[in-house]
Amino acid sequence: MRVQVAIIGAGPAGLLLGQLLHRAGIDGVILESRSQEYVLARIRAGVLESGTVALLERAGVASRLRAEGLIHAGFDLAFGGRRLRIDLEGLAGKSVTVYGQTEVTKDLMEARAAAGAPAFYEARDVAVHAFDSEKPWVSFNSSQKIACDFIAGCDGFHGVCRASVPAEKLKLFEKNYSFGWLGILSDTPPVSEELIYVSHERGFALCSQRSRTRSRYYLQCPLSEQVDEWPDERFWAELRRRLPGDAAAQLVTGPSIEKSIAPLRSFVAEPLRFGRLFLAGDAGHIVPPTGAKGLNLAASDVHYLAEALKNYYQTGSMEELETYSSRSLARVWKAERFSWWMTKLLHKFPEEGGFGRRMQLAELEYIAGSRAAQAALAENYVGLPY
Ligand code: APR
Ligand code: PHB
Repeated sequence: MRVQVAIIGAGPAGLLLGQLLHRAGIDGVILESRSQEYVLARIRAGVLESGTVALLERAGVASRLRAEGLIHAGFDLAFGGRRLRIDLEGLAGKSVTVYGQTEVTKDLMEARAAAGAPAFYEARDVAVHAFDSEKPWVSFNSSQKIACDFIAGCDGFHGVCRASVPAEKLKLFEKNYSFGWLGILSDTPPVSEELIYVSHERGFALCSQRSRTRSRYYLQCPLSEQVDEWPDERFWAELRRRLPGDAAAQLVTGPSIEKSIAPLRSFVAEPLRFGRLFLAGDAGHIVPPTGAKGLNLAASDVHYLAEALKNYYQTGSMEELETYSSRSLARVWKAERFSWWMTKLLHKFPEEGGFGRRMQLAELEYIAGSRAAQAALAENYVGLPY
């Protein structure tokens, strides 16, 4: 088999790239090691920057997003028993859209199937070859081979693509946090119209949503803890303790339909290009979820890569492909900084002691009193320009 672009991974990065290339008449194939059901069962975040929504529009997969996505013109910061609304529209002239990553993935999978574009799910032993030559190829299922011009490594943090790059060619930057996020999904009405990011003595909390009848809540918890130490009642009681009074009074509880603990990590691999292999999304970088940037960074990588590939096939020029890594990383590092800053501002760091906590509260008070500080926060949250 021969294609122009072989895409490894059918997460949002791989599927969105596949869709944009397909619409540009560039043929590609997607190889995914898991089944479609498994990929769709992953519970992930769901706050889309306007740039990501525009890209999904361009990819022709935004009709359900437009119908079911919730436009949020702001969110709340809660600390010291009070709530501070960050007016995204007023401060940065843009809103965000709440629409689950699972839904984005489902829309992209359906579009690919409808277009009859090839995707191999449950592909075993996927391997990438000769990407430092002009004739890269991929193999899977032990005997299948696909020749291609380029390989897009959209296979996430634990994928084969970055792992296939010689260590001496890679520069890795990593920060692991000593805590995780215990998240639950519940078919209960959200506690608030907009998201609430909570900084509390007992730790961080987040009130998010998937729809007007489905809520998503998170609590900062030590990484040593297990999910079964957190029966629903304990989760709801702890969440109520961390929420400001009015929100705690409004909280509707119910049985969790999903519950999991996710570690927090900041990670960047440099560069994102190795000959004819290009990394995009979680394969190249991870952000802690506090800034809601994970999916949006995958989208901006895919934007740069799709434009560069289109330019190559239209003009034969490698120029945009040669600057893909530096242009993507420039945006990635700013989002890494914002996500790290939000994490530092809102989580409990026992090792920082009382002084550390006072610094957090002083910064929150500064933000509350400064339109300039709120505008900087809003500008980063809605998404920096591509
Ligand atoms: N061969 C084929 N597919 C693979 C392999 C492999 N060796 N290893 C991993 N994959 C697949 C995974 O099963 C997964 O479906 O690659 C896909 C990578 O998808 P994601 O991890 O969702 O990464 P990405 O598409 O970059 O999306 C980034 O996901 O984790 C969130 O917060 C993150 O929102 C961000 C988004
Ligand atoms: C989510 O809805 O899962 C979510 C929202 C905002 C975040 C992180 C996760 O910052």
